[in-house]
Amino acid sequence: MAARVTSDRLVGRDAELSELRAALSAAAAGRPSLVLLAGESGVGKTRLLGELSRGAREERALVLCGDSIELGDGELPYAPLVSALRPLVRDGDDVFDELSPGAREALARLLPGLPGGGALVPAQDAAAQAHLFEAVLDLLDALGGRRPVLLILEDVHWADRSTRAFLAFLGRSLGAERVLAVASYRRWEDNERALRLGEPLPGGGPPWLLSAGIAAVALVVLVVLAVDALS
Ligand SMILES: Nc1ncnc2c1ncn2[C@@H]1O[C@H](COP(=O)(O)OP(=O)(O)O)[C@@H](O)[C@H]1O
Ligand SMILES: [Mg+2]
Repeated sequence: MAARVTSDRLVGRDAELSELRAALSAAAAGRPSLVLLAGESGVGKTRLLGELSRGAREERALVLCGDSIELGDGELPYAPLVSALRPLVRDGDDVFDELSPGAREALARLLPGLPGGGALVPAQDAAAQAHLFEAVLDLLDALGGRRPVLLILEDVHWADRSTRAFLAFLGRSLGAERVLAVASYRRWEDNERALRLGEPLPGGGPPWLLSAGIAAVALVVLVVLAVDALS
């Protein structure tokens, strides 16, 4: 009989799920981190993150999730970050009132619908980009003051340069915010893209992140489950 490849029940992945849950508990206690979830297409990244999110919501954490879209190298800046943060604007979350006017103004450029929006920050404007990243960090900090935050950015092997720069910034800058950030990616496709762009290929995490000087990100690698785990 053919092995089932999908199941209503999450099969296996106990170790990975507990690692992620532990990172979320640590974040809730003020020890944030950025976790990279690596694995090839179909191996179960989204499913695992769905399970993590379900548990997080049950424990009253805020779950924000954005997908990267495959656009080749024609880039839509910050796409996954914008889709992760958009519900806050849509729901009229008053967290924005807690931010400084400067941070609000920077965020309004990212999130249409917030009052005061202007042109999106161009990727090559380093000062404006740094200002925007600080504003997002302020926002995450303010959100975390209310309840722990799980920020998921999916399929970042497709992410635009600006999103990647943001992840690198998060990896460097998270301090005591009550935030767990998880970025999922397909390692093989990421390496392919790096080769195309002439980036170096280290063994551990994605090249674009490691080359940004990030030392301390956690890496969880999913591999194909053994068939007997699925029966
Ligand atoms: N641990 C698991 N237990 C049961 N079903 C799984 C498991 N992991 C993945 N699946 C199923 O396999 C399919 C592909 O998984 P998915 O999470 O979408 O992969 P990825 O996001 O890595 O591309 C989905 O139908 C999903 O529900
Ligand atoms: Mg997926």
